Amino acid sequence: MKSALKFVAVAFAIAAIVAGVATAQDASLQSLRGAQVDEPVTVISVPKQDKKRFGRAFRLQPPLIPHAIDQYQVDTNANQCLGCHDWSNAGERKAPTLSMTHYLDREGRQLDAVAGTRWFCTQCHVPQADAEPLVENLFVPSFTR
Ligand code: HEC
Ligand code: HEC
Repeated sequence: MKSALKFVAVAFAIAAIVAGVATAQDASLQSLRGAQVDEPVTVISVPKQDKKRFGRAFRLQPPLIPHAIDQYQVDTNANQCLGCHDWSNAGERKAPTLSMTHYLDREGRQLDAVAGTRWFCTQCHVPQADAEPLVENLFVPSFTR
């Protein structure tokens, strides 16, 4: 009984020391966002979608999406993008038709329905935004502006 109490006391003492070390703020430690844990962090707002159509930076670039897509479901069963962009709907919906490359399977056969390899549109197409590059880079488009 006595040794059990002693053990508990020692355990508490160790926990107190560990907690003390953890809460002491070391000036040399930097959080990822540069703010202390008790300081509010201002997050850069999500860039607004630019309605003006952006050009392609290289010939085979999947064109950027010039409209919002957060309401359009794309999963294994449904693809709402096709409701406007499939060749069978595009004329009526006044949307650009998927180019014929989207109807070729991996053996090069031409299909009537969009190829499985092109089902998940956002694998290649992303909504456009005139955002600051996240990392510095030396990219230049393959044409001169
Ligand atoms: C309600 C109809 C509609 C739906 C649904 C829709 N789009 Fe569009 N999309 C359009 C129209 C209309 C344009 C042409 C806009 C313009 O010219 O400014 C367009 C343009 C585009 C373009 C640019 C094409 C180019 O040649 O520059 C891409 C890429 C695109 N959409 C992808 C998608 C994807 C991916 C989805 C699903 C997440 C989707 N769209 C859903 C109507 C739609
Ligand atoms: C594997 C990548 C990939 C996927 C997946 C894909 N695309 Fe594309 N898409 C491209 C590329 C690359 C181009 C431009 C070259 C071309 O037309 O093949 C393009 C072109 C387009 C265009 C412009 C056509 C034109 O003639 O100007 C539209 C619209 C489009 N895609 C919509 C979609 C939609 C909607 C989906 C989903 C059903 C989709 N794409 C899936 C790569 C992809």
